[in-house]
Parts: sequence; structure tokens; C-alpha cells
Amino acid sequence: MPGTLQAQTYQLRRSEIETYFDRTAAATWARLTSDAPVSGIRAKVRAGRDAMRATLLSLLPDDLTGARLLDAGCGTGALALEAARRGADVVAVDLSPTLVDLARARAAHDPVSVRVDFRSGDMLDEAYGTFDFMVAMDSLIHYQRHDVVASLGRIAPRVRQSMIFTFAPGTPLLITARMIGRWFPRSDRSPAIEPQPERKLHAELMRHPEIAGFSLGRTQRISHSFYISQALELSR
Ligand SMILES: C[S@@+](CC[C@H](N)C(=O)[O-])C[C@H]1O[C@@H](n2cnc3c(N)ncnc32)[C@H](O)[C@@H]1O
Repeated sequence: MPGTLQAQTYQLRRSEIETYFDRTAAATWARLTSDAPVSGIRAKVRAGRDAMRATLLSLLPDDLTGARLLDAGCGTGALALEAARRGADVVAVDLSPTLVDLARARAAHDPVSVRVDFRSGDMLDEAYGTFDFMVAMDSLIHYQRHDVVASLGRIAPRVRQSMIFTFAPGTPLLITARMIGRWFPRSDRSPAIEPQPERKLHAELMRHPEIAGFSLGRTQRISHSFYISQALELSR
């Protein structure tokens, strides 16, 4: 992490995210990512997330045979399994041991799961090795911009082809939702989503020395009622 202050904001937010996904919201998250019926807003969020997962997968080659892929913040593992189905050897990492256990259990009867190494830990850990591709679906949306950029900068030297991640675009709806979120008691709240004005994000990414070897690639926004997220590809 380049500066001490940034390391502190990263560590603090990471610990809030871990508590939220591993305990507060683990059951909700398990249901949302299952086939079990959900109603109203959650059904729309599920549809939006399905569309985003399909978008991210469309930014990867159809044939991933022999490629190593990092699923950074894998949650319950849906994207990791799809990448493995295309032939990738996947390291799927998440801060939440509860979600990683669930991901393993869900994958257990899928023959492609032999190509997925599920781990609980920090996506930035260098011990996971080098990769051809890195995908982070909605796992960086809770971090401040300097921490998003610093995190990608930490992973970048170990990625040979592309890094594909999502961010929350700085739309008025998201900014309002963030403000409303602040009215709820702390204990019920998810860590705030940090909307990122696109131009500022692009500029900071391109200024980072480890990301300079990548160029800004394809981008696509998914806007499904309450689910708003944008994919961005950085490719060498
Ligand atoms: C919104 S969920 C998305 C999960 C999954 N990518 C999906 O789309 O289903 C964000 C996930 O990122 C994980 N996460 C956030 N920061 C992380 C970090 N530094 N290292 C590993 N996982 C992280 C959280 O624990 C959480 O499970």
C-alpha cells in the first residue's frame, strides 16, 4: 500500500466488509445467490447481478484452457465455476470464510470444481501467485477510490493479460442511496458503496505506476432498478 493513511482506510473498510459478509448478511447473501425465490427489490438485484456476471464473462476469452484466473472477492463462487467450465484454473478468494465454505459446498458436485481453488483471505495476498486474468465482481465497490486504485496496483504486476472489475458509477441515484443509508443505525448497515465518477477513476488508474502498462478497455454499465454497477476492463 503506497501510503500509511491509505493502508489504514483499506484495513478499516476491509474489516467492516468481512464482518458484514461473514456475519451480518451471510444468510441474506446465501439466499440471494441461490435459486430460492426472493421477492421485490432482491429479485431485481439478482437479475442485475446475473446480467453483470454474464457481462464480465463476455469480456473473457471463450476458451480459457490453461489460463490462470483470480476471482477476487468470489463470494459464493458462481463466476469462478463458469470460468473453470471454460477451462481456466481458478483461484477464488474471499474475505468471508462462511461464504467460501458455502461456495465449496455448492461446487462439490460440479466436475469443474477440481479446477477451482477456493481460499478465504485477502485478494491482495501475493502468495496466490501470478495470473492471466483477474476478475473482481462488486468486490471493490465498498472501497474509497485511492484504495480501489492501490488494490488494483498491487495485483497488476502479477497479471499478464487483463484485469476486469466493477465500480459503482457516480450516478445521482447511487449518491442519494448512499446518503439515505447513513440514516440507518450502524449495526444494520452494509459498508457504504463508494460511487466513482468515471473520469476521476480513469485518471487515477492511469496515473498509478503499476497500472500504466494497461490500457482502459471495454466498459459496460448494468442498471437494473436498484442494481447499478459498471464493468471496466484494463488490458495489457
Ligand atoms: C458484493 S460481494 C460479491 C461477491 C461475488 N463477486 C459475486 O458477485 O457474487 C463482495 C465480496 O467481496 C469480498 N471482498 C471484499 N474485499 C475483499 C478483499 N480485500 N479480499 C477478498 N475478498 C474481498 C467480500 O467479502 C464479498 O464477499
